[in-house]
Amino acid sequence: MQQESFPILARYDNIWHPEELKSHLKVFPLGQFVVAEEDGEVVGSASTLILTLIPEYAEHTWKGITSDGMFTDHNPNGDSLYGADISTHPKFRHEGIGSMLYGARKELVLRLGLRRMISGGRLFNFQDYADKMSASEYADKVINGELHDPVLSFELDNGFRFIKILPNYLDDIRSQNYASFEWLNPQFRYSS
Ligand SMILES: CC(C)(COP(=O)(O)OP(=O)(O)OC[C@H]1O[C@@H](n2cnc3c(N)ncnc32)[C@H](O)[C@@H]1OP(=O)(O)O)[C@@H](O)C(=O)NCCC(=O)NCCS
Repeated sequence: MQQESFPILARYDNIWHPEELKSHLKVFPLGQFVVAEEDGEVVGSASTLILTLIPEYAEHTWKGITSDGMFTDHNPNGDSLYGADISTHPKFRHEGIGSMLYGARKELVLRLGLRRMISGGRLFNFQDYADKMSASEYADKVINGELHDPVLSFELDNGFRFIKILPNYLDDIRSQNYASFEWLNPQFRYSS
């Protein structure tokens, strides 16, 4: 499923392998989600860990934040649920599976009393506009509805707020640039 969901990243081996998935399940089983058909076929998945970013919108890379994909820096005392990846198999897209996965992540944020969910997502179609505008301009146009992007629009529809561009997040010729997003827990109260 990873290979078919991320065909270009798969060419550079930037997808999950069994040893990484086993490590995610070992360090933070509650944070790993799959959507499966009745026969067990996995059609969607999302991997998460908990951390605290200092400062709260610190520049980071995918490799650094995920401990090279292993989640070994997962910190149960952190304040943010970090979305390391989310994907729906191409044959099953636009059926609400991705939003269902986000729903499950939001429930986890509420259940664990975390302050927010944060992640880095691809500017999926930016490559088609890169000769005409910067990544920030592209993001602005998606935010104000002039352009539609399968990943950025999906994140915004799921209640995320665009934070900033992360240019060196991950080598990915498909999107070239990534955007960071956050979703704030509406029930979170700071203790005095
Ligand atoms: C981003 C991604 C996970 C979305 O998954 P998905 O299962 O298609 O998500 P949803 O079905 O919940 O939403 C997708 C769109 O379908 C629409 N949709 C949902 N249910 C629908 C239905 N029953 N009928 C028609 N449209 C529907 C949603 O409104 C949404 O529209 P939008 O593009 O305007 O936001 C998927 O496109 C993907 O795997 N992309 C490749 C991997 C990737 O880049 N992941 C993100 C970075 S890690």
